[in-house]
Amino acid sequence: MFDFEEDLRIPIVGAPMAGGPSTPELVAAVSSTGGLGFLAAGYKSVDAVRHEVDAVRALTDAPFGLNLFVPGRPLADRAAVETYRERLQPLAERRNVVLPEVVDHDDDAFDAKVDLAVELAVSVVSFTFGLPPRGVVDRLHAAGTAVVATVSDVDEARAAAERGVDAICLQGVDAGGHRATLDPDAEPDPRPTRELVEAARAAVDLPLVAAGGIATGADVAATLEAGATAVQIGTALLDADEAGTKPAHRAALHDARFTDSVVTRAFSGRPARGLVNDFIIDFDAYAVTAYPQVHLLTSGLRAAAGAADDPQGLALWAGLGYRSARSAPAEEIVRDLWREARDV
Ligand SMILES: Cc1cc2nc3c(=O)[nH]c(=O)nc-3n(C[C@H](O)[C@H](O)[C@H](O)COP(=O)(O)O)c2cc1C
Repeated sequence: MFDFEEDLRIPIVGAPMAGGPSTPELVAAVSSTGGLGFLAAGYKSVDAVRHEVDAVRALTDAPFGLNLFVPGRPLADRAAVETYRERLQPLAERRNVVLPEVVDHDDDAFDAKVDLAVELAVSVVSFTFGLPPRGVVDRLHAAGTAVVATVSDVDEARAAAERGVDAICLQGVDAGGHRATLDPDAEPDPRPTRELVEAARAAVDLPLVAAGGIATGADVAATLEAGATAVQIGTALLDADEAGTKPAHRAALHDARFTDSVVTRAFSGRPARGLVNDFIIDFDAYAVTAYPQVHLLTSGLRAAAGAADDPQGLALWAGLGYRSARSAPAEEIVRDLWREARDV
């Protein structure tokens, strides 16, 4: 079974990035360089995930991971989502987008994706938005798969360890994209990744993969020094040649107009860090905690902004290190970060 302490030639994990960035080519490039690439199963059909696993296997024999979203709680306050829908309506009309009706439940096909991971015996499966049920952990172990739980504070790390996972991905407040937090209403633990790693190191006896704001060799070195077994980089790969990041999102990482990032629920109903743009300025104050309902409500608006190459309407997910994102082949990014970390 994959062991984070023994089997990484380079202790750098390529974060799963749903919504386009994590392509099979990106995953294969990170893994074949000696790190561990991750496919993102979130938002995709089971068939699409199968196709992507096959595509990575056609590119490399190296181990890689697959990341799944754990379904959230049922919709608690439908009226609040309807009110948010009404707020989005004028923008939808300007963009010629028909907003979908509010759905009741999450249909991300979690069980079928677990079945697929077991069938394909993927080397590593990580979970976010919730802890994997014990039965799922046992089934994956029986298939020879190492299991990672993504968490965002020390209590969650302890709870994950009790589920019998093999490693913990610990996400600090500096991380780009969705927060793993088990309670999407909770205020984020304000500690930056390195401090969180130090605290978790003392609390759990499992390999720790640290995620959040790690974008330079100095960041990699300092995070490993704090006690992480490996680092997980997302934003630092967003502008990699092999990434499927939308052109407007890539450009925004280097655009002087985007000077800040915030954690917002405006795009998806779950807290996530992105660059501050017009959509966040207009809607963050009214956002409600309701995933995937809000995600589905805004999907047409985001697609229209993407088609128009308009960064002001896209979810520009990015961590605090976004200005250091390099435009280069993923192999070069991973190798350079590791070389610079060793030089430090
Ligand atoms: C565009 C984007 C999409 C992401 N999608 C996922 C995902 O599907 N699953 C997941 O566990 N984490 C996801 N994340 C979070 C990453 O796993 C990781 O925690 C984060 O990128 C680390 O912070 P950094 O972006 O500052 O490197 C995403 C992050 C970004 C930037």
